[in-house]
Amino acid sequence: RKEAVRVVVTGAAGQISYSLLPLIANGAMFGPDQDVILHLLEVEFVLPALQGVVMELEDGSYPLLKDIVATSDANVAFKDADFAILVGAFPRKDGMERADLLSKNAGIFKVQGQALDKVAKKSVKVLVVGNPANTNCLLAQHFAPSIPKENFTALTRLDHNRAKGQVAKKLGVSVRDVHNVIIWGNHSSTQYPDTTVGHVVVNGEKKSIRDAVNDNKYLEGDFISTVQKRGAAIIAARKFSSAMSAANAIVDHIRDWVLGTPEGEYVSMAVPSDGSYDIPEGVIYSYPVTCKNGKYTIVQGLTVSEFSRGKMVATYEELADEKKAALEQLQ
Ligand code: NAI
Repeated sequence: RKEAVRVVVTGAAGQISYSLLPLIANGAMFGPDQDVILHLLEVEFVLPALQGVVMELEDGSYPLLKDIVATSDANVAFKDADFAILVGAFPRKDGMERADLLSKNAGIFKVQGQALDKVAKKSVKVLVVGNPANTNCLLAQHFAPSIPKENFTALTRLDHNRAKGQVAKKLGVSVRDVHNVIIWGNHSSTQYPDTTVGHVVVNGEKKSIRDAVNDNKYLEGDFISTVQKRGAAIIAARKFSSAMSAANAIVDHIRDWVLGTPEGEYVSMAVPSDGSYDIPEGVIYSYPVTCKNGKYTIVQGLTVSEFSRGKMVATYEELADEKKAALEQLQ
């Protein structure tokens, strides 16, 4: 058998983790032959609740789940980690200023970045989910200089899956038939869900999404705002933020990163910007990527319309502002 992988999940007693942990334990993330050791990090006062989650994991009788570490000490949680899924974050409270939110989270992701730097494997792959995810990811990366920059990513796969879902619903087809939608930029309401290069395959026939939907007003209007505001719509309906779909997207993100994407298939991942598509280096920006052999590659050479360019720059500017504000909080 392959050696077990150590997977850190922070915010492990929260609602996303409650949907996520069983998926990791049952092989959905790493496949049916890969044992896992779960490292669960929570804040100290939540440890009693975390013990309940640990009991449930034990009672799940998961053949692949080799061991569980539950702790409030980041240096214990991140020890020898192969993967770190950073879900825990400080939630936005009513009346809270943006600067307060950034400052609370900057503190958390500084500590966790430092712990990753100190005790995780240098090959650790990091996925930040806790909001503001892209900027939190940038901070963790900043405080973990001994880990390759490209190992730090943030979750926009949920937005990607939402975009696919909306196209499938509009056309009355399965999401299986919808390919290569793209999420550009920030996991926030400025994100740009882009259908210009995507296609659908219906009855064996390949068609661009644009031609199949045949309604550019919708694709450049309601489609974009529906995806951008989907998180808020779920909070309004459920009174809690999306958790089941977030957990599912986390599994998709890591699984594809590790096991690869199907030939010709793009997925969206927020990764360190490298100048691709004229987005300056220094932020964590969602791009279309393909994955192979445990590495992602930003898809190059796509045509960018003037409409797209405007949206891609706007979401970049928000990230640049968040970065500036977060770094100021740490002065
Ligand atoms: P939740 O509030 O149910 O759980 C968060 C957990 O994190 C809590 O148990 C809390 O005690 C813990 N936590 C807080 N600070 C921590 C720290 N320093 N170390 C370890 N644990 C800590 O929240 P939920 O619904 O699970 O969401 C978690 C985060 O994910 C939120 O920030 C949410 O906005 C974000 N999110 C991101 C999505 C994305 O697509 N990027 C999608 C959905 C949610």
